[in-house]
Amino acid sequence: MAALIGVLPGDGIGPEVIAEALKVLDTIARLGGHRFETRQALIGGAAMDAAGSSFPGETRALALDAQAVLLGAVGGPKWTDPAAPDRPEKGLLDLRAAMGVYANIRPVVTHPTLYGASPLKPERLQGVDIMVVRELTGGIYFGRKERGVDSASDLCSYTRAEITRLLRIAGTLARGRRRKVASIDKVNVLETSRLWRAVATELFAQEFPDVALEHVLVDAAAMHLLSRPADFDVIVTENMFGDILTDEASMLVGSMGMLPSASLDGSGRGLYEPIHGSAPDIAGRGIANPCGTILSVAMMLRHTFNLPAEARRIESAVAAVLEAGLRTRDIAAAGQEVVGTAAMGDAIVARLRAAA
Ligand code: IPM
Ligand code: MG
Repeated sequence: MAALIGVLPGDGIGPEVIAEALKVLDTIARLGGHRFETRQALIGGAAMDAAGSSFPGETRALALDAQAVLLGAVGGPKWTDPAAPDRPEKGLLDLRAAMGVYANIRPVVTHPTLYGASPLKPERLQGVDIMVVRELTGGIYFGRKERGVDSASDLCSYTRAEITRLLRIAGTLARGRRRKVASIDKVNVLETSRLWRAVATELFAQEFPDVALEHVLVDAAAMHLLSRPADFDVIVTENMFGDILTDEASMLVGSMGMLPSASLDGSGRGLYEPIHGSAPDIAGRGIANPCGTILSVAMMLRHTFNLPAEARRIESAVAAVLEAGLRTRDIAAAGQEVVGTAAMGDAIVARLRAAA
């Protein structure tokens, strides 16, 4: 039986980058004799317009049926009314919660050919290979929210169980890498951080004595990501710190458009999406960078379908077209020739076929 993949293009540039990712998935399936059934559904603003909800029941059913979900992006200027009960981003948070994908992993790997696209000096970018493990279904994103006329609050809370299961993923990933974990918190201010740090210290002593654990305050971590990025191996942190630090880290690679992510539930099921948003300013123009979404397909093959060789083939094909000089607008140097979304996708597909 073919494995079921739910495909949720979403809003803005979502459908454009998803189209290229599906070309790549189809190519990999044909070349390797794998069978994937893809089924599309609505999410975000597109779903609000068509079905009256950012996360319709049909989409929920598909997400729970599928072994993996591939998502584009959600949001846009059309749906920003602060008084509205529903928002595109709510659809994404509901999807993550419904799937129980608590561990969001975001690899940040610099490519020498893209050093020029980063605002940092090239010598800082050498050897940067970071795996950020972000808690995705708890913390301030999901705590009780209150709004009065002149006051508002967002509760941030974590349980030992939520922290432990995430740290285990980080420790396990570190064992396949350089065996270093930086746990990021704000222990000097937040009670949740004090629990987080205590749990991390205890868990690594008991279960990961072979992995070096360091604790870094989030403000210092933001600085170290720019001053000594190559020192980091695995970074593990709570939901909002991880959101902020990964946007920052994308500048090491050169563009948000380059970064993929996998959100895992611990059993192999996963949600795969680029870390970028719907980019309404460039939507519909065919100029978005599809690499983050295409690399998310690679993560899907690795983490849900246990096809690491296929994942590496996609990663190599992306690296090869970058080395050959192909650039979407976001990663192009001044004066460098630029290709569109579809041309970038086609070049990666051609590369996959040529390497087969
Ligand atoms: C991300 C995004 C989302 C988040 C938004 C769109 C809700 O920024 O995936 O990083 O904050 O998690
Ligand atoms: Mg974000």
